[in-house]
Amino acid sequence: MRFTLLTSLVGLVVGAYAQSSAADAYVASESPIAKQGVLNNIGPDGSKAHGAKAGIVVASPSTSNPNYLYTWTRDSSLVFKLLIDQFASGEDTSLRGLIDDFTSAEAILQQVPNPSGTVSTGGLGEPKFNIDETAFTDAWGRPQRDGPALRATAIIRYANWLLDNGNTTYVSNTLWPVIQLDLDYVANNWNQSTFDLWEEINSSSFFTTAVQHRALREGATFASRIGQSSVVSGYTTQANNLLCFLQSYWNPSGGYVTANTGGGRSGKDANTVLTSIHTFDPAAGCDAATFQPCSDKALSNLKVYVDAFRSIYTINSGIASNAAVATGRYPEDSYQGGNPWYLTTSAVAEQLYDALYVWDQLGALNVTSTSLAFFQQFSSGISTGTYPASSSTYATLTSAIRTFADGFLAVNAKYTPADGGLAEQYSRNDGTPLSAVDLTWSYAAALTAFAAREGKTYGSWGAAGLTVPASCSGSGGATVAVTFNVQATTVFGENIYITGSVAALQNWSPDNALILSAANYPTWSITVNLPANTVVQYKYIRKFNGQVTWESDPNNQITTPSGGSFTQNDVWR
Ligand SMILES: *[C@@H]1O[C@H](CO)[C@@H](O)[C@H](O)[C@H]1NC(C)=O
Ligand SMILES: *[C@@H]1O[C@H](CO)[C@@H](O)[C@H](O)[C@H]1NC(C)=O
Ligand SMILES: *[C@@H]1O[C@H](CO)[C@@H](O)[C@H](O)[C@H]1NC(C)=O
Ligand SMILES: *[C@@H]1O[C@H](CO)[C@@H](O)[C@H](O)[C@H]1NC(C)=O
Repeated sequence: MRFTLLTSLVGLVVGAYAQSSAADAYVASESPIAKQGVLNNIGPDGSKAHGAKAGIVVASPSTSNPNYLYTWTRDSSLVFKLLIDQFASGEDTSLRGLIDDFTSAEAILQQVPNPSGTVSTGGLGEPKFNIDETAFTDAWGRPQRDGPALRATAIIRYANWLLDNGNTTYVSNTLWPVIQLDLDYVANNWNQSTFDLWEEINSSSFFTTAVQHRALREGATFASRIGQSSVVSGYTTQANNLLCFLQSYWNPSGGYVTANTGGGRSGKDANTVLTSIHTFDPAAGCDAATFQPCSDKALSNLKVYVDAFRSIYTINSGIASNAAVATGRYPEDSYQGGNPWYLTTSAVAEQLYDALYVWDQLGALNVTSTSLAFFQQFSSGISTGTYPASSSTYATLTSAIRTFADGFLAVNAKYTPADGGLAEQYSRNDGTPLSAVDLTWSYAAALTAFAAREGKTYGSWGAAGLTVPASCSGSGGATVAVTFNVQATTVFGENIYITGSVAALQNWSPDNALILSAANYPTWSITVNLPANTVVQYKYIRKFNGQVTWESDPNNQITTPSGGSFTQNDVWR
């Protein structure tokens, strides 16, 4: 017995050491390759960007199966956010010319009439252009409304640096008009349907909503800083509406974020992890309203997302259920064979490094009922509570989580070819690189994860201390916070649930019914956001020893008001 325990402890320590040293080695070898890989794909001088205009980011030099010799607003903006962070933090002061090329190229693209419209009729939502700055006119999933938001975020970051360095004229005369077009577009169109970041689903997308929220929030502060006060309250109003709408993607019974509002899929999607890292604000603590990397919701979501890939990829078989695996866009994916992606697997590591950074800053971590399953992966006996940095539990958990994070980099390292080239995907069966070669976003994602591993952060955007409005407006689906109170006596171990006629009440599903709190027993309570101005039918149910008992007929019914909150008091029937 003692021998077994000792052996398994040694095994754990050796395993942890192997993960971390593999990650160390990968960071050392891949960093310069990834940086060069990004620069090679930027015109006019990048060695793999022939034909691209100055400042244009080529998604990949691949010209067939798939042809990615285009420039996407989303990819370009994420890539330049990385380069601007490196420039503004002083890590690489040589990038200024390239950054100026980028902002000039984007100013040109904004004005190119395209199938989504002109600059004033929706053209800013066009997802991609030819690399000579002409419109791409074939059929495509358009519009994609995350692009203008991400572009505004990147350029605002640069503009703030210029202001810090006394260059107000260039910011006000040259950059602000570009930024304002994007922010106005977001403020006016955020509640319209959009194709998601994978260009497949036309509905509302969590990633898009979240990056739009960030752009308007920091856009309002930035506009104020340069004296453009007339736009501030409009941006702030829509930012509040976006923050409210953002909450509706959370699936409380599944413990994860549903990535898109349309689509007939599980909703488990790298979209959500990418949201956490690209809206990370190191000053916002573990706030769940903005799904910060260390928030209980984002951690619960991370576990559900990662677990969705454990059994579907051959290369993940035989890996312990609490160890790192290769992950892809979403489990139902079939594009190019539906394989793991480098950028999604590194995003998991990045979220975890961001979380470790914040816990370290705050000097504690919280385990809540929402994040319990995530933490149980690292300590099966853990219970909810606050663990200060001085506690041994904190040390055990954070060390195991760092090893877990390093494991995702080690998985990518294992399937990175000897020359360090990063394609888009690698085979689910044997790890061979697949799909587009030299994907700019793969390189950029490696670099942002490596920076997070080193504890580097790049400033706040205003996510700290936000309050979610009590009722949402403007989302085409205003909601009302409805509190259900029901008086019901129960036996020990028996619980009361609610389900009903709308999605927020789990569409009459007894399996997914929402559990009520017995904090004020014998009154059981729950508050749920329901659609406004809507007739909603519902019933309470009891669950005891696996047995479900419904209330007697007929169904209960309420009509929700147009806004605000509402309380419904019932007695079990
Ligand atoms: C302000 O920044 C722009 C962009 O880099 C540059 O072209 C311009 O020379 C700068 N102006 C001053 C006064 O430094
Ligand atoms: C996307 O969905 C909206 C709303 O349902 C619809 O009006 C629009 O035509 C759709 N776009 C495409 C390209 O299917
Ligand atoms: C833990 O939760 C408490 C109460 O909600 C909160 O005040 C504190 O900031 C949280 N700490 C961390 C590290 O998340
Ligand atoms: C979208 O938001 C605008 C305000 O920006 C509002 O006038 C409009 O009614 C909203 N549309 C829907 C469908 O809620």
